[in-house]
Amino acid sequence: ALLLPLERTARTQVSVRDRIPEGRLPRPFRTPFVVPPVARPVRTDATADYYRLTMRRARVQILPAPFGPTTIFGYNGITPGPTIRARRGRGTVVRQINALPQRHPVLGYRPTTSVHLHGSDSEPQYDGWADDVTQPGEYKDYYYPNDQDARTLWYHDHGVHHTAQNAYMGCAAQYHTSDDLEDSLPIPKGYWNGRPGHYDVPLMIRDAIFANSGELIYDDESESNLMGDVILVNGVPWPVMKVERRKYRFRILNASLSRGYRLALSSGDPMTIIGHDGGLAPAPVEVGSFRTGPAERYEVVIDFARRKVGERVVLRNLGVPNSREFASTQRIMRFDVVSDATDAANNSIPSVLNPGEGPYSPMNLQTSEAVRTRRWVFRRKNGLWTINGRTWDPARSDASVGLDDVEVWQFENRGGGWNHPVHVHLIDFRILDRNGKPPFAWERGPKDTAYVGENETVRVLARFGPRRGKYMMHCHNLVHEDHDMMTHFDVGPSGVDPATIDPPRPYD
Ligand code: C2O
Ligand code: CU
Repeated sequence: ALLLPLERTARTQVSVRDRIPEGRLPRPFRTPFVVPPVARPVRTDATADYYRLTMRRARVQILPAPFGPTTIFGYNGITPGPTIRARRGRGTVVRQINALPQRHPVLGYRPTTSVHLHGSDSEPQYDGWADDVTQPGEYKDYYYPNDQDARTLWYHDHGVHHTAQNAYMGCAAQYHTSDDLEDSLPIPKGYWNGRPGHYDVPLMIRDAIFANSGELIYDDESESNLMGDVILVNGVPWPVMKVERRKYRFRILNASLSRGYRLALSSGDPMTIIGHDGGLAPAPVEVGSFRTGPAERYEVVIDFARRKVGERVVLRNLGVPNSREFASTQRIMRFDVVSDATDAANNSIPSVLNPGEGPYSPMNLQTSEAVRTRRWVFRRKNGLWTINGRTWDPARSDASVGLDDVEVWQFENRGGGWNHPVHVHLIDFRILDRNGKPPFAWERGPKDTAYVGENETVRVLARFGPRRGKYMMHCHNLVHEDHDMMTHFDVGPSGVDPATIDPPRPYD
């Protein structure tokens, strides 16, 4: 479907030598905290909400003067893109229009796209299959069932071989689902807008490299890693958020291409983990710090009632092995406690959050239910990023799983100085162990991405369903994914190539 006149772009030069020197980076804590707008449906009917999003190039002022504006690619021309808020039991239809230029102005590639809703059990043809690409000037309609437990998802680009570049340019956004169980809990609620009564806060953390001109620099160090020295939270550098003396819920998403973080509060106060990739935790867990690899989501409650009005708390990054740290990446954002709580409720965190009763909830699965164990070895071989020695081939399936089978998947990272955040599409899993030891305190919940550190072996347990078809599994260091640390598996017999299934056209 050719929809739009194609935008022409003049090539511009941005070289890695133009990188802002460390000593000239903008000072942290000069920018007010913001959150992305909530997407508005273009129409609704009895069963679904319909959205229309346009991926386009925009020039936005990300860094303060004297730095110039930054060219981004974004859903509706903003990054992060608009947050979609959906209700369990109601579907979502999104028309994704690729209005990106024919060529990336600096890198020169053609920005073909495929949109993946990460965390959703979508049908394969709506799952962002890497080779099911939409060309600039075309669109694709996606359908999401929203039939899982309430959770924090995110939609981001998944176009084959350009996922890292498209996501780095800004094609990433949050997507929240809610349900009756979540509604019944007295946890902080209300999408944050800076006004009293809104304590549910999306927090997308990523790093980036900027040129003196203000433009982004994409430097993946020979297809290894992209380690930026500027931290962006919801698209702005090291912001400051004004908070009341009460509890807030943060939906923390690590949207970096390669960087892992170990997050902690400068006050020494604990954080309470209440949710994971696959929704609410079985029970809250207090931690002093926690580690997050790319694509993981942690829902965290911070209680600023522990602080006095006038105090400032920095969200710090203590660093993780194999992520290059700069002085500038040791700070993420700052919270300034500006007033007492404006409401009496101040919320509480119940000791049981999510009984995990659904058939696809992994938390009550037992290892004894597993019909097999599969091993997946992640390693760099002859300069290529491989899984079990092979690279992405859309025609080759590496596993056939029976519909509703329970399996143990074992992810092995054989070292070399890399961490691999391993993501399995379609399913939620629970982590059984790391090198034979229990999972970390902060990762005892339903997940779809496991951070596999150097020389670690991580075992996870899942039931494969409720859909049949071809689904991807890959490293979510997007530089590794693009070159070509990705495979796919079939659920149920005779998975059809998702790129060959014609979607319905709800707008036609
Ligand atoms: Cu968030 Cu296959 O990706
Ligand atoms: Cu990797």
